[in-house]
Amino acid sequence: MAKAKTVFFCSECGGESVRWVGKCPHCGAWNTMIEQKIAPETAANSAGRVRLSRSAPCRIDQVPAEEHRRYRLGIDELDTVLGGGLTPGSSVLLGGEPGIGKSTLLLQAAVKMAAYGKVLYISGEEAAEQIKLRYQRISGEKAAADNIYLLAQTDIDSALEEAAALAPSLLILDSVQALFSPQLESAAGSVSQVRAVAAAAIAFAREHQTAVMLIGHVTKEGMLAGPRVLEHMVDTVLYFEGERYNALRLLRAVKNRFGSTNEIGVFEMAENGLQPLPAAAYFLEQRHLSAPGSAVTCVLQGTRPLMIEVQALVSPSSFGNPRRLSSGYDYNRLLLIIAVLERKLKLRLGDKDIYINIAGGLRLDDPAADLAVAAAIASAAAERPLEQELLLLGEIGLLGELRGVTQEERRLREAAALGFLQAVCPPAVTPPASALRRLEAADLSEALQILGLL
Ligand code: TYD
Ligand code: MG
Repeated sequence: MAKAKTVFFCSECGGESVRWVGKCPHCGAWNTMIEQKIAPETAANSAGRVRLSRSAPCRIDQVPAEEHRRYRLGIDELDTVLGGGLTPGSSVLLGGEPGIGKSTLLLQAAVKMAAYGKVLYISGEEAAEQIKLRYQRISGEKAAADNIYLLAQTDIDSALEEAAALAPSLLILDSVQALFSPQLESAAGSVSQVRAVAAAAIAFAREHQTAVMLIGHVTKEGMLAGPRVLEHMVDTVLYFEGERYNALRLLRAVKNRFGSTNEIGVFEMAENGLQPLPAAAYFLEQRHLSAPGSAVTCVLQGTRPLMIEVQALVSPSSFGNPRRLSSGYDYNRLLLIIAVLERKLKLRLGDKDIYINIAGGLRLDDPAADLAVAAAIASAAAERPLEQELLLLGEIGLLGELRGVTQEERRLREAAALGFLQAVCPPAVTPPASALRRLEAADLSEALQILGLL
């Protein structure tokens, strides 16, 4: 019999190395390599691999066209992020920090999914009674429960045997780190275990045309293997984010074989589970309308326009080196905008600390927000508030010019629906029809003149 060999896995990215190294050669993370014994491959432990199908090669035009059935769960925020619903036979990984609400979200999905067929919730972490308590909390005991099955089990093989017997439409595994494959010697939660558990679940999904949802805890320390080691195996990867002391939760797709990865879902953790939020206005609700340093823009997150408040604070710095801090907005873009404000508009910011915050804990990567960031800084520096009901749109170039934004018309429509009256926009050859008064500015200095800040 061949000898077991030792390899090292990175608990962040799953990268392999034959020697122990302090820094992962694949993702650059420090102190994440974990020793693992690999048993020689036998028929038994190769069973965990994902097999697509056992059939012979088939000419591309003769591949049977598979209609894309989808289960719409009726939780819109989740359906959109999934790309229109849950695809049978697909595998979805839901990652997030412990306590963020992953189990709650998938239990709510299970309740909805019960309308289509049986749902099996396999928990390696909680007893069935605990899940039942959560179920009562989110459904108020009124939902029909005859299609939801619970199984507390940590052995993936016996769990999947039970699943095969029950033939559910949706299988939930909570969590990949708590389940283990008895064919491997390593501890539950290690890289090879997490991979084996996921592989077995994905194979089950394909074979039985069951949708499988896997929960994976994101951990900061390298003790457990994070969901990142599974990202390439599953069809869809969702991350559930939010602050522990804030009820707002964002669901994002970072990979989706069945849809776009730009969509986000917005929820609020309430007493009776996660409630979808009508996001359009949410981020504006607690807006400090007439304070200097506040500017509103409209960003596109996937197909959805979100109205966002950008806040800036500018204060004299007490030491030679001014501080620039950004939360929710790209730091390098912030430096670029500050440089443009200084060089092109002769604003004196070199002796000021500048802080930028995107209200509501969002992270922006839409360049259309540039103008709002610049205006918020200029408004804070001048200690003059911007007009109310004013929208700012535009990407800023290195020369201070304003560049057009994608889908301007949709953004303007959203703003008009929320009662905005005017918008400062980049020039357009054919200005989009809109209910707002469009004030065109070719560059940043024109924009700030319109705003009365220059
Ligand atoms: P949970 O789904 O157990 O998180 P995870 O599976 O990601 O570890 O949710 C945990 C938190 O959510 C817990 O602190 C309690 C809170 N919660 C509510 O506020 N309202 C609810 O209706 C439920 C079910 C949980
Ligand atoms: Mg949980």
